[in-house]
This record gives sequence, C-alpha cells and structure tokens, in this order.
Amino acid sequence: MSATEPMNDHSDRLQINAAAQQLSTRLIEHESLIRKLYIALLTGGHVLIEGAPGLAKTRSINLFAASVSADFARVQSTPDLLPADLTGTDVYQQSSASFKFLEGPLFKNIVLIDEVNRAPPKVQSAMLEAMGEQQITSGGVTRALPQPFMVAATQNPIEHDGTYPLPEAQKDRFMFFIDVGMPNDVTERRILDTVLAESVAQVSASPDARADYPVDTTTILRSTKAVANVHIGDAVRDYIVRLITATRGDGLGGEAAIDIRQPSSPRGSIFLANAAKANAWLEGRDFATPEDVEAMAIDVLSGRISLQYRAIAEGLTQRAVIKKILQATVKV
Ligand SMILES: Nc1ncnc2c1ncn2[C@@H]1O[C@H](COP(=O)(O)OP(=O)(O)OP(=O)(O)O)[C@@H](O)[C@H]1O
Ligand SMILES: [Mg+2]
Repeated sequence: MSATEPMNDHSDRLQINAAAQQLSTRLIEHESLIRKLYIALLTGGHVLIEGAPGLAKTRSINLFAASVSADFARVQSTPDLLPADLTGTDVYQQSSASFKFLEGPLFKNIVLIDEVNRAPPKVQSAMLEAMGEQQITSGGVTRALPQPFMVAATQNPIEHDGTYPLPEAQKDRFMFFIDVGMPNDVTERRILDTVLAESVAQVSASPDARADYPVDTTTILRSTKAVANVHIGDAVRDYIVRLITATRGDGLGGEAAIDIRQPSSPRGSIFLANAAKANAWLEGRDFATPEDVEAMAIDVLSGRISLQYRAIAEGLTQRAVIKKILQATVKV
C-alpha cells in the first residue's frame, strides 16, 4: 500500500482500538502502557514493565492477554527455574519407545514472565534467545515459535535480595521499557472503585476470563502487515537517527551523552521506527510523523542506555536523560 492509497484495514484498527479502550476501564491511568502492549504485539516486539509492588504490572498483562484470543502462558520466576521449564523438554514415551518434545510456555503467543529478575541467568538467556530469534533450539533441534509471539516481562527494581538483574546487553531485545509509577489521589480512588466494583460483580482479572470480544490472531496478523506498510519518510528517519546518535554524543542533543555510559545500539533505531509506524496506524494514518517517534522515544530508548555512575549518584534517571535529548533535538 502506498501512502496515497486509502486504507482498507479500518475495521481491524477499530477492533484493536476498542479492545484497548475496554482495557483502559480496568487499568486506571494506564492508557500509555496499554497502547504500547498492542504496538509490541503488532510489531513482534517485547515489553519489560518495571515498578514497585502493587502497581498492576501483572494485572495489565493478564487483562491484555485476555483481550486477544491467542494462546497465553504465565511463568512465575523463581531461583530454581530451569531453561527447560520455559523452552520445553524431550519426554520418553513408553508406548512408542521414543522421545517426544513437550513444548514449554515459550511456545504460546503471549508469554508473561513475571518477576523476571528472580529467574537465574540461564533461564533469562533461554528467554532472550527466543525473543531475539523467534525460535528455540533444544536437543539439537530448532523449532520456530508461533506468530504472533510476544514476551511481556515484569520486574520490581527496588527488590535486590535473591534477584539476578537482566544483563544490560540482553535487555536490548525488548522493544519497550515501561515504568509504572505511583498513582495520585484521584487515580487511587478510581483504582479502589474499580477493584471494589469487580469484587461485587465477581469479574476476574485472570486471562481465563476472556474479554467479551477478544481480537483474534488473524486480525492481529493482518494488522501486523498493515503496520509494516505504513510509510516512514526521510525526515522521520533522520529524526530517529539524530536521537540515537545523540545518545552517542553527536549533534545538538549530544550534550546529554556526558551522562551516558553505554549508548543505544541500532536496535534502538529499528524499534523506534517500528513503534512509530504502529502508533501512526492505530491513530488511523498510513504515514508516521516525528510526533509518533517522540511519543515512543522514552519507553523505547530509556532501557537501552546506561548511565555514568556519577550521573546515577546525582539522581539522574535514564528516562530523564532521554527526555533531555528529546528537548534538545530538532524534529525536522
Ligand atoms: N492502575 C490500576 N488500575 C487498576 N487496578 C490497579 C491499578 N493499580 C493497582 N491496581 C490493583 O492493585 C492490585 C495489585 O496489582 P498487581 O498484582 O497486578 O500488581 P503488581 O504490580 O504485579 O505487583 P507485584 O510487583 O507485587 O507483583 C490489584 O488488585 C490491582 O487491581
Ligand atoms: Mg505481579
């Protein structure tokens, strides 16, 4: 589809936006998170949600998974988890006197890895391989993962005992790094009202409680194609490059780079472009704008850079540094 042809994917978009709208009635003030979950699903991306306990990280993924009629698996991470608990394993079958591969949870469409920093490094790397390559090798056999495939991981960054922080280089495989913050008083009251009403109505936040009109995988896969065809012009591409290279010290926004120890890899550009295209499509456009890039930049780039120890000691955050780069970088 060229940028001038009319879009014929109207009803798919309406359906996805309606599902997002429905979710926002149960995930208070999480519109931005919800949008990014669908964007990741439409672009083959993965999401890492970070935040203190009790901020609806798990609930978000459960409800999101229930809004899509795709296969869903949930893994609760513990220090004794084994890679095979995620990937699957060969099981001997007496009847046929042979081994049969039993698929693990990573073979589902949407996989929630809860509290991923409680899983040991071997498990984390099995997960990251699946995320990066959309396939799993086990016992010398490589198996493709289903489409769509999306990992949504959560972690609580303030708890350190018995955790294995994701290696920085491996975090790069995530598309979005979402930071859920504390609600204000108005939001807190809405959360309270919502959850109390649910307990009266006995509505469940479990993924087994499917949404009224879940989006089917055919719609998702068709929409993925439509998103791939969204036009992203030279000016927008150049803006992306200015943002990424600013993390490496180039250009106007490059000054913020004195606070950066490890800048963004080219994965940052690619994820930013794909996220911007999906955002444009969800808003009914067949071309991405610099504003789409801007809207995605903090959640795409913040987890992709690491800061100088001095900057951390001064209380700077990755998100604040990306914000500075956005402010200093010309859009067109
Ligand atoms: N923004 C919100 N909208 C709706 N419910 C919320 C919101 N924030 C918190 N809650 C409620 O708070 C409770 C905790 O949610 P959940 O278990 O998903 O938190 P979590 O972030 O996964 O916590 P933990 O890190 O301890 O696992 C749930 O009952 C949930 O309904
Ligand atoms: Mg949780």
